[in-house]
Amino acid sequence: MAGRIPQHFIDELLNRIDIVDIIDSLVPLRKAGRDYQARCPFHEENTPSFTVSQNKQFYHCFGCGANGSAIGFLMDYEHMDFVEAVTELARRSGMELPTTEYSNTTSKSGPDLHPIMQAATNFYQQQLKQHPEAGKAVDYLKQRGLTGEIAARFGIGFAPPGWDNLDKALGNNKQNQQQLVTTGMSIAKDDGGQYDRFRNRIMFPIRDRRGRVIAFGGRVIDKEDNPKYLNSPESPLFHKGKQLYGLYETKQALRQIDRLLVVEGYMDVVALAQHGIYYAVATLGTALTPDHLQPLFRTSSEVVFCFDGDRAGRDAAWKALDIMLPELKGGRTARFMFLADGEDPDSLIRQIGQQAFEEKIVSAISLSEFLLQNLSQRVDMSAIDGRARLIDLARPKLTKISNHIFKHMIITELANRIGMPSTELISLLGEKPATQIYNRALAKPAGESRKPSPVRSIISLLLEQPQLAQQEPNPERFLELKEPGIKLLVELLELIQQKPSISCGAILEHWRDRPEGKHLNKLALSASTIPSEGYEHEFQDALRHLDKQRVERAYNQLLRKSENNRLSPEDKKQLTELLIEKQSLSQSVPRIDENQK
Ligand code: UTP
Ligand code: MN
Repeated sequence: MAGRIPQHFIDELLNRIDIVDIIDSLVPLRKAGRDYQARCPFHEENTPSFTVSQNKQFYHCFGCGANGSAIGFLMDYEHMDFVEAVTELARRSGMELPTTEYSNTTSKSGPDLHPIMQAATNFYQQQLKQHPEAGKAVDYLKQRGLTGEIAARFGIGFAPPGWDNLDKALGNNKQNQQQLVTTGMSIAKDDGGQYDRFRNRIMFPIRDRRGRVIAFGGRVIDKEDNPKYLNSPESPLFHKGKQLYGLYETKQALRQIDRLLVVEGYMDVVALAQHGIYYAVATLGTALTPDHLQPLFRTSSEVVFCFDGDRAGRDAAWKALDIMLPELKGGRTARFMFLADGEDPDSLIRQIGQQAFEEKIVSAISLSEFLLQNLSQRVDMSAIDGRARLIDLARPKLTKISNHIFKHMIITELANRIGMPSTELISLLGEKPATQIYNRALAKPAGESRKPSPVRSIISLLLEQPQLAQQEPNPERFLELKEPGIKLLVELLELIQQKPSISCGAILEHWRDRPEGKHLNKLALSASTIPSEGYEHEFQDALRHLDKQRVERAYNQLLRKSENNRLSPEDKKQLTELLIEKQSLSQSVPRIDENQK
């Protein structure tokens, strides 16, 4: 049964390991004050802004904003998924993972379908070697220039002609037959029984991040058959719009993946690998979706998208650009490569070879260049109103970009093209001046100059120094308040009380799959501007502030009640208690920001 790794195991694991050792073994760190530093492995930089805090068991890059726990680091740096990263850390620390099958998807029910897919893969590979008619499949692969070695690397096989080859080989009981249908390998007939979906085809297994076969693409061998490619249908294992063909194979082939090339077809991926380009992946006959971007950019910070040079290819590229704009952040580079009409990566590499092909990849145009080039072509750049129109065309694209630094770089480029000072264009577009943005990004990650709300400051102090939670043993009373984040705060205090030695990194893991996790992450970066001697005072001060709000609220409620009907003896007692509490709270030191008001 697939399940989730128990949170207490992750707590214990993160308690045992030291993030400094883990990162230092992959990216050598240098001690700098209380923390450790290096040049950031997630973006290009000359001066180190990548910081690892031993105390918080948390890393953070001030340049590109990458941050997380030791688990997060392995996921990003080693391109692992969550389960892989936890497994690796457990291995290093000598802890044994509880023995269940783990999956990243929440509580999948039903039987594990992976074994039958692996059995199908083995069957097709065997048929490519043994079946009496395998000769034409082998000839076909040879004629397309593939060696046995590459075919084996991609697990390429042969589905022989006939309606029941797979069914006969694997469907030896009801359960297996059912699994063949569930995975789409067999098609159920109306009158009972079932037949093989893939017949007389070259079979390309599609593997997930962990190398498990989840679907197949099958190519015709005889020209007159169709469709040219038949793919597995959506199934509990296979979601087409998320999957990238060749990603697992890329990670197997390369230790360090500096770049990924996204192409259209199975054969493109395989042919590129045949010619020494191991970093190509394919969307499976679908357009790029936002779901593709995460696995792409988690694997490599640079992604080059390869499109046909024709109208359809350009349109597809333009759509891909739209999907990417909101997702661009520090360190991510997306570029576009266009092929000549009628050419695909497979035909091109066979014609020009690895070196010339890689030169083309390197000179692919940047996303911003593609954006501005495309928009400029729609207007008359030699006329003033044409250039003014360009600004209007660019505006809706710019609003999609969430990353301010990136947005600014594009605006600057746009200003150059129009021949306008960039400061002027920035204010024309209603953007904040660059200095403000850079200061914010570099100096105070979460930073407004305004003092944060008491809830925010308590949370960020707790993330900085979790032991502070021991000073607040009864947080439930704050739940009366309707402040944003109050539930999160109470939950956080309770968690730390249960686990007094938990680190910031381990705390954040508790919120990994929850929407509040994002806010916590931001807050984890913000308290470091206060000197640590001030934490306790600040913490007490913010708590007192919340108490005041709480008492004030309860007090006013009772007053309102007393206007309408009479107070019960219980109410009166509470009112007296509140009054006393109010008094004692007002005697204590007020918050500094209130003094300034
Ligand atoms: P192409 O038609 O460009 O084929 O489809 P190709 O990759 O160049 O294949 P070869 O070189 O003729 O063998 C690109 C991709 O679109 C999907 C497949 O994923 C294919 O790799 N496709 C294409 C289908 O799913 N079904 C089809 O019938 C055709
Ligand atoms: Mn092709």
